[in-house]
Amino acid sequence: MLYTENQFKRHTITSALPYANGPLHIGHLAGVYIPADIYARYLRLCQEDVVFIGGSDEHGVPITILARKEGVEPQQIVDKYHQIIKQSFEDLGISFDIYSRTSDPVHHQTAADFFKNLYEKGKFIEKTTQQYYDEQAEQFLADRYIIGTCPKCGYEQAYGDQCEACGSSLSPTELLNPKSMLSGNAPVLKETKHWFLPLDQYEDFLKKWILEGHKTDWKSNVYGQCKSWIDAGLLPRAVTRDLDWGVKLPLPNEKGKVLYVWFDAPIGYISATKIWAAQTGKKWEDYWKDKNTKLVHFIGKDNIVFHCIIFPVMLQADGNYILPDNVPANEFLNLESNKISTSKKWAVWLHEYLIDFPNQQDTLRYVLTANAPETKDNDFTWSDFQAKNNNELLAILGNYVNRIISLTHNYYQGKIPAVTELKNIDNEAIAQIAIYPELIGKNIEKYHFREALSELMNLARLGNKYLTDNEPWKVVKTDPQRVQTVMNIALQITANLAILCEPFLPFTSQKLKKMLNLGNYTWRQAGNVHLLKDAHIINEAEFLFKKIEDEVIEKQLVKLEEIKKQNQLAAYMPKPVKAECSFDTFSQIDIRVGTVLACERVPKTDKLLKFVIDDGANKRTIVSGIAKSYPKFEELVGKQVCFIANFAVRKLKNIDSEGMLLSAEDADGRLVLITPSQLVKNGVSVG
Ligand code: 2FM
Ligand code: ZN
Repeated sequence: MLYTENQFKRHTITSALPYANGPLHIGHLAGVYIPADIYARYLRLCQEDVVFIGGSDEHGVPITILARKEGVEPQQIVDKYHQIIKQSFEDLGISFDIYSRTSDPVHHQTAADFFKNLYEKGKFIEKTTQQYYDEQAEQFLADRYIIGTCPKCGYEQAYGDQCEACGSSLSPTELLNPKSMLSGNAPVLKETKHWFLPLDQYEDFLKKWILEGHKTDWKSNVYGQCKSWIDAGLLPRAVTRDLDWGVKLPLPNEKGKVLYVWFDAPIGYISATKIWAAQTGKKWEDYWKDKNTKLVHFIGKDNIVFHCIIFPVMLQADGNYILPDNVPANEFLNLESNKISTSKKWAVWLHEYLIDFPNQQDTLRYVLTANAPETKDNDFTWSDFQAKNNNELLAILGNYVNRIISLTHNYYQGKIPAVTELKNIDNEAIAQIAIYPELIGKNIEKYHFREALSELMNLARLGNKYLTDNEPWKVVKTDPQRVQTVMNIALQITANLAILCEPFLPFTSQKLKKMLNLGNYTWRQAGNVHLLKDAHIINEAEFLFKKIEDEVIEKQLVKLEEIKKQNQLAAYMPKPVKAECSFDTFSQIDIRVGTVLACERVPKTDKLLKFVIDDGANKRTIVSGIAKSYPKFEELVGKQVCFIANFAVRKLKNIDSEGMLLSAEDADGRLVLITPSQLVKNGVSVG
């Protein structure tokens, strides 16, 4: 039974199917999978009938491009990532009832049947359009397979659908000098037939269903995006592609065509339900075709149009399916103030986290929920991660539990003491405990997961305060009877925490239940002080959380710094060449070779090094701003360098600098001294 509504008999919960072309990162988790998992776990604890669907999205052009790049078949790519993704979800405790994949034959059949049914009912428009074709490869080209010059900014490697330099959306025919990625040749335009879903014919349905029907219950970011799509006017959308990777078009005379990945992927939710139902003896139709089923899609904001407009239109066109009751899409999570990017490798990868932080899944779950981008983009920082673990999970929840369980063993050999007499302070605590299941539950039901988690922590705070106010460790010397009552209530709070933390922190909940020897309670059975019976025996205390030290965080930051550097190098574009300069002008500059005799840091600066150079005739002093690039500057002694010998003397930090050392500035800002490729006489000219 739920708190906010109860008109539904069962729940179908879907979470966006991640593309099987890369591992999962914290952005995926915070945006989609952790909230979906909290919701599913909560509903199960409320004894609701739930199916929670996940799976890999294994079609789409980026997968074929990656396969080409790696010289393997697309199936090998998806097999590899499906396994990695599935395993890391499992290790994080994402409690899918099924984690399926769109290369499953049941999915191919389901998606093909779905298309065929709409086709036979005349729901599509057939249109012939002109599209780029590679004559050598004998293939039509997906937008991503065409590269050319961006008409907006002149970038020469723009894709047929987007220019990554200026961010403009493009269509392939806008590109200047288009080239096929397959053969490198210029593609030609050729006619091809496709099937379009006439979204424009569903505008009235969408206006009524979303704009009127879900104005107040859908999140404003979701509603707002839908409204602007609908207000701008919808156009027919092609649901087929000329490709050979995907669900084959189920029309006998149409070869070389597949369903558009965004047509087949959401059907993946249905096919996964079918597979699950066959395994568990359920009826899949109950979860998709019964009005008493509540369908909820968990997605990131980039998927809103597909889940709120295109997929519902597909379902509506079929006519037998239910529509989503809600689509609680999240905004994006950034990492250390920069956009998470798979291609730039700017991410914290789940499979790496699980290795670097063994048995600390709940810390990540906690931080990503507390920082979830529910209403706006949010930032993940490693220092906040450390603070939340050490100052919240460990200091508030972990220490409380540890103290209570250890005291129970010290005072009562692990046996729950009986309450003797209740005072006001106890009754107040009991009354407070009673409100938490509903408080947390209602927030989860409204998809306010951050708020729900913060209320859970308030229950732990209540426990801490109750202990501090009652000081059993002092009172035990004078009034052991009173301590029995205090300890009983403190233990009951711990038992309540064990139940109520399960959706958010399932590993902690399990450990806690094991420590308390606690049976399986439902959500509604929490909120009272009768969960642990008098004389019930509990187990030894185990640590719930581990302190995260500075060095551990430092290591993660160094990893990110390294990625940043690599990205800078990869993105480096040489500066434009300066205005022409005559040979006479150049020859006025006297560049020489000399040997470094001594090198030291200029005191009180972090940039300057003082060099003594043998210039072939004399010793000269040169001050150079390269200290940051040469932390081991002593090693420069004995090396030959190039310097400008005829600059006027300049005073730098009170030192007369008699020239300038020549260096190259690398893409990451590092300065590298210029040195002759072979030993030469000191004092020779460079020209
Ligand atoms: O954006 C994505 O990662 C898509 N693979 C999500 C698909 S969701 C659903 F339709 F399957
Ligand atoms: Zn551009």
